[in-house]
Amino acid sequence: MARSALLNVMVQAVMKAGRRLARDFGEVENLQVSRKGPADFVSAADRKSEEILFNELQKARPGYGFLMEESGTTEGDGDNRWIVDPLDGTTNFLHGLPIFSISVALERQGTLVAGVIYNPVSDELYTAERGSGAFLNDRRLRVATRHDLADCIIGTGMPRFGYGDHGKFLKELATVMGETAGVRRCGSAALDLAWTAAGRFDGFWERALSPWDIAAGIVLLREAGGFVTDLDGRDRMLEAGNICAGNEDIHRRLMALLKKASG
Ligand code: IPD
Ligand code: CA
Ligand code: CA
Ligand code: CA
Repeated sequence: MARSALLNVMVQAVMKAGRRLARDFGEVENLQVSRKGPADFVSAADRKSEEILFNELQKARPGYGFLMEESGTTEGDGDNRWIVDPLDGTTNFLHGLPIFSISVALERQGTLVAGVIYNPVSDELYTAERGSGAFLNDRRLRVATRHDLADCIIGTGMPRFGYGDHGKFLKELATVMGETAGVRRCGSAALDLAWTAAGRFDGFWERALSPWDIAAGIVLLREAGGFVTDLDGRDRMLEAGNICAGNEDIHRRLMALLKKASG
């Protein structure tokens, strides 16, 4: 599969950071860990991965700006901005659970144009560029084609200790559980979206997310033929920090269920 020069830059950066994350995952008990807030951890692995991604992307595209989880914003040319989560699923990582990823997106003049998500343990590399399709390694991705919620598995994320509206989430969970084949909470929003693009999950929703959790996944979802909006049905997921995704029917039905839960 021939990749564009842009995707090659992104893939090279995430593979390099991924090799380092895989090594740190093997020695997780020796990593320095600190807390940014209640149940909100950051480790030396998050920081090292971010440093590698910054250096690689900066070297390849010197003018581009950055929005990164751990080090914040770096101004660039005003048109191009990398949106980077160096380790999505830190809590899983620190508990030895092999469900985590690196997520890198490129936003150009306010539009998300490319996304790469990589799980270095499973060696699954998800890539998408606007107008050119979404891929898992070399395989073209399409969202699932199920239409009946009763057959569907829906992914989500739960608000953790100290964050979000737990009561509201529990109502949503009960409502979605009552009408679907199952709900999954795997702990990496970026992978959840990649899995929805790959048709493993039929749909996904989550609140209280940051741009770096979802930017790359949004590109993948769209390029896999999916529908993705915020929970008010708008194309403002990064600003709202919440998201609902699936094929056209499942997106609509899941949105209706979530509305019912809040009514
Ligand atoms: C977290 C993961 C998780 C989601 C949290 C995020 P982090 O990101 O994406 O699935 O439920 O809201 O903060 O902190 O591990 O990069
Ligand atoms: Ca984090
Ligand atoms: Ca994250
Ligand atoms: Ca992170």
